[in-house]
Amino acid sequence: MKNKKIGVFCSGGDAPGMNAALRAIVRRGIARGLKIIAIHRGYQGIFDEAFEKMTPRSVGNIIQLGGTIIKTARCKRFYEEEGVQEAAEILRKHEFDGLIAIGGDGTFRGLIELKKYWTGQVVGIPGTIDNDIFGTDYTIGFDTAIDTVIQMLDRIRDTAESHQRVFLVEVMGRYSGFIALEVGIGCGAEEVLVPEHVVDLEKVARRVIEAQKREKKSIIIVVAEGVSKNDIFNFSNKLTNQEGLEFQTHISILGHVQRGGSPSALDRWLATRLGSFAVDCILDGDTGIMVGEQNHQLVQVPLEETQKKKSIDTYAFSIIHDLAI
Ligand code: F6P
Repeated sequence: MKNKKIGVFCSGGDAPGMNAALRAIVRRGIARGLKIIAIHRGYQGIFDEAFEKMTPRSVGNIIQLGGTIIKTARCKRFYEEEGVQEAAEILRKHEFDGLIAIGGDGTFRGLIELKKYWTGQVVGIPGTIDNDIFGTDYTIGFDTAIDTVIQMLDRIRDTAESHQRVFLVEVMGRYSGFIALEVGIGCGAEEVLVPEHVVDLEKVARRVIEAQKREKKSIIIVVAEGVSKNDIFNFSNKLTNQEGLEFQTHISILGHVQRGGSPSALDRWLATRLGSFAVDCILDGDTGIMVGEQNHQLVQVPLEETQKKKSIDTYAFSIIHDLAI
């Protein structure tokens, strides 16, 4: 029987640990008799036929690198049915037997669509700093990102405390508050605003004044990107003009610095196990699944399930105000 030919690509926002996952896929795959082809620039690379046959040496010395050496993209053409059909045709022409895609929910949606027109095996690996993928406790990149953000928040706290200021700090998480909540807890934020919970900003303003009365010297309000920018700018103006509030208010948007950097030990561990397990699943003939981790166990989750909404930790959310007294 001929060796299976498996394509691997990254899609959506890059995340630290994607290279570690790629390394594991390439080496475990080749060690177990697969032919591994890197597809550069995500789904776009299928249209461009940007294929590279990988060897164990192609992934040497990359486990510690942030970003992804095979590049990533958000591919509009793949959102259209004709685009998906065209991609399926190209995969057939090049005789691919399977694909392993590292990315987020949009990437997995792409695989679900592709399955309708292509009979090859499809396996997803959760790689996004947002950690918003249902079916896995953690996604590759999240641990590194929260460490990076916590470091930045500690620095903001230094200056906030010295000048006695309120800082509204926007962190990434397009539709979710996982980053905001964990860094908020980790840096002792006074407030965390996330898209999953609608909060009354009037109440937040009152709590800020109360905190000043309790002689707090600074206030950090962590805001997930998914909360409306308009609301945040209006809220900042409101605090600036709030009677009785002596603290100045500043907005700080951390942006893409959160996505870069060398992956943490935990992300390398997760990426390496998930990458290797994805190969094992391909060898076992599995398809239509995401590999993930639940309670430290490797699991397979049907791709359709990954499209459900993952909930943030409501207990952690409920203790923030008590911890900020
Ligand atoms: O999905 C990861 C993420 O970093 C989100 O937190 C953020 O909203 C988005 O990607 C930004 O994407 P881009 O770099 O394409 O603007």
